Amino acid sequence: MLKVDKLNQYYGESHTLWDLDLEVSRGECTCVMGRNGVGKTTLLKCVMGEVPVASGSILFAADVELTKRRVEDRSRLGIGYVPQGRQIFPLLTVEENLRTGLAARADGKRSIPERIYELFPVLKEMRHRRGGDLSGGQQQQLAIGRALVIEPRLLILDEPGEGIQPNIVTQIGEVIRKLIHEDGLTVLLVEQKLPFARKYADRFVIMDRGRQVAKGAIGELSDELIKQHLTV
Ligand SMILES: Nc1ncnc2c1ncn2[C@@H]1O[C@H](COP(=O)(O)OP(=O)(O)OP(=O)(O)O)[C@@H](O)[C@H]1O
Ligand SMILES: [Mg+2]
Repeated sequence: MLKVDKLNQYYGESHTLWDLDLEVSRGECTCVMGRNGVGKTTLLKCVMGEVPVASGSILFAADVELTKRRVEDRSRLGIGYVPQGRQIFPLLTVEENLRTGLAARADGKRSIPERIYELFPVLKEMRHRRGGDLSGGQQQQLAIGRALVIEPRLLILDEPGEGIQPNIVTQIGEVIRKLIHEDGLTVLLVEQKLPFARKYADRFVIMDRGRQVAKGAIGELSDELIKQHLTV
């Protein structure tokens, strides 16, 4: 579904991603892990076109070279993105926040799919409340809902569990599972929480200082790898 090949990225003089490879298979949840500042968010921003890449390729759906596509086009191709820190609009209502995602729909449909309210009943209950009045966990659910209004094929989430109460983290995990098994989505997740990755991811990729240093089925994520690359 997504194949990143030998990606290099710089912030000014600072070389952040080094010949980075990443493969995300259709119908699976792949979790990118790594300590703070190793380049996880930068990798996702390269995929979405929010930062330019120096070299390398990013193939989506077998044959679409994303690095040659404009930023606006990438979501239209069917990629939903939930950025780190949520970035919802605090002064808009929940429904208005969801509507902002509709502009990126390729088919021009302008109504919020009912499935989103089914997955997140709290968004329906609170659809007339302002985004800023929601709890952190509800805002994260709203950010995911907004990414889903385009009915993407690939959903990318950057640390959805960051700073959120455990029961909502679990609800989000269950939604990821439903999206994969009931809706046929593919998920690329950045998450540092080990129990969450172990429970909801099929495969892991570990990054260290801008490089891919390990990957495998989630069951192969050993204590040795964790000690070497994930614990501080
Ligand atoms: N806009 C920017 N300009 C310059 N340097 C940046 C910028 N954004 C990130 N960096 C640097 O690039 C490196 C990778 O940052 P990035 O945010 O991708 O890491 P991360 O793995 O997502 O970290 P975290 O776990 O804290 O979210 C860090 O050293 C960071 O300081
Ligand atoms: Mg990050």
